[in-house]
Amino acid sequence: MKTIRFGIIGGGLMGREFASVTARWCNVLDMPVRPELVAVCSATNRLFPWYKESFPSIRQATTDYRELLANPAVEAVYCAVPHHLHQQIYCDTIAAGKHLMGEKPFGIDLAANTAIVECGQQHPEVFVRCVSEFPFYPGVQRIGQMIEAGAFGQLLEVSAGFLHSSDLDTAKPINWKRMSQFNGEYGCMGDLGMHICHVPFRAGWRPMNVRAILSNVVPQRPDGKGQMVACDTWDNATLLCEATDGAGTFPMTLKTQRISPGEKNTWYIEIKGTKACARFSTKNPKRLEILEYRGGEQIWQQIDTGYETAFKTITGGLFEFGFADTMLQMVASFLHELAGEKMPRKFAGCATPEETAMSHRLFTAALRSQRECSTVKID
Ligand SMILES: NC(=O)c1ccc[n+]([C@@H]2O[C@H](COP(=O)([O-])OP(=O)(O)OC[C@H]3O[C@@H](n4cnc5c(N)ncnc54)[C@H](O)[C@@H]3O)[C@@H](O)[C@H]2O)c1
Repeated sequence: MKTIRFGIIGGGLMGREFASVTARWCNVLDMPVRPELVAVCSATNRLFPWYKESFPSIRQATTDYRELLANPAVEAVYCAVPHHLHQQIYCDTIAAGKHLMGEKPFGIDLAANTAIVECGQQHPEVFVRCVSEFPFYPGVQRIGQMIEAGAFGQLLEVSAGFLHSSDLDTAKPINWKRMSQFNGEYGCMGDLGMHICHVPFRAGWRPMNVRAILSNVVPQRPDGKGQMVACDTWDNATLLCEATDGAGTFPMTLKTQRISPGEKNTWYIEIKGTKACARFSTKNPKRLEILEYRGGEQIWQQIDTGYETAFKTITGGLFEFGFADTMLQMVASFLHELAGEKMPRKFAGCATPEETAMSHRLFTAALRSQRECSTVKID
């Protein structure tokens, strides 16, 4: 089995999730490649002891990402840094000839995203993908197979969303994700949007125009040092799009909300068509609901999905699947595609740079829609 040696740039919340995936690679079966963590970079050395104790294979821990990129032992980079750094670090990574698994939103804004996408196009020898783990839930994989089989008939309506509620607590101190200079003007759309766009975009469903309602519910937050400071990002976004699948048009509603009471980390999708409907939510992550219409009664069925994954693992098929498993499947997908292997399913891939570009065109149009109080065409 071939080894791909990884460096992590941005060793915070997601950096550690990625690292722990590499530590349980023995879970995945029949893979031509395995990842090995050899280097880590963060703005501070606070978490370096955790990395070094957990991963004896790490030979380099640095606060300068250029040192990591200059390390010939690093073949691929997982990058999870604040959004204002995406353009610089992603482009430098690609230019250094390292394969890139970059976190969303893949650039703080449309201009940054365009620069990253173009840099990738100028270096076709480098494999570039954006993180998107939610499609790997078994229920979503089954929905993907229904889409591939044309099971929905004529599309009537698509709704997708990602809902959080921890920001309902107005005493929660601010962090970079609530400041537009670091997180971007998109606010919650930049944080959560790519996650919900990925399945519709992979299906080939394109938003043609958008009417967006964006809310900044909590305009100030404690800075953690006794002062209140501006919290200038959009907390909630509801986007009503007219979408097309090439055959017809239909409404597509996309919600990204940081202040959605009762929702901890709820990713959902619901598709309604003339022949079938399906809905899935991480609120009840093994449940898949399907309605198939063949005349007669219209009956919603509830299916308990098991550990039915796109990439084979040792885990028993009856067991429950969760967030950490989506990350494992996604890294397996990245390495599988990087190794030039045939992808098992259309919906078992990470987001492509082109898919991120479409999300940026949508979010940029949504910002304009909010400003102008109008429906905005998407090019
Ligand atoms: N896929 C997901 O489910 C998911 C979840 C949360 C966040 N994210 C994304 O991951 C990225 C990071 O988010 P996070 O939650 O891990 O943030 P975080 O604040 O926990 O971690 C960010 C890390 O970046 C490091 N950093 C900052 N400046 C740096 C620099 N110049 N060079 C090297 N490292 C630097 C910090 O030291 C920190 O370790 C963002 O793009 C975010 O949107 C993805």
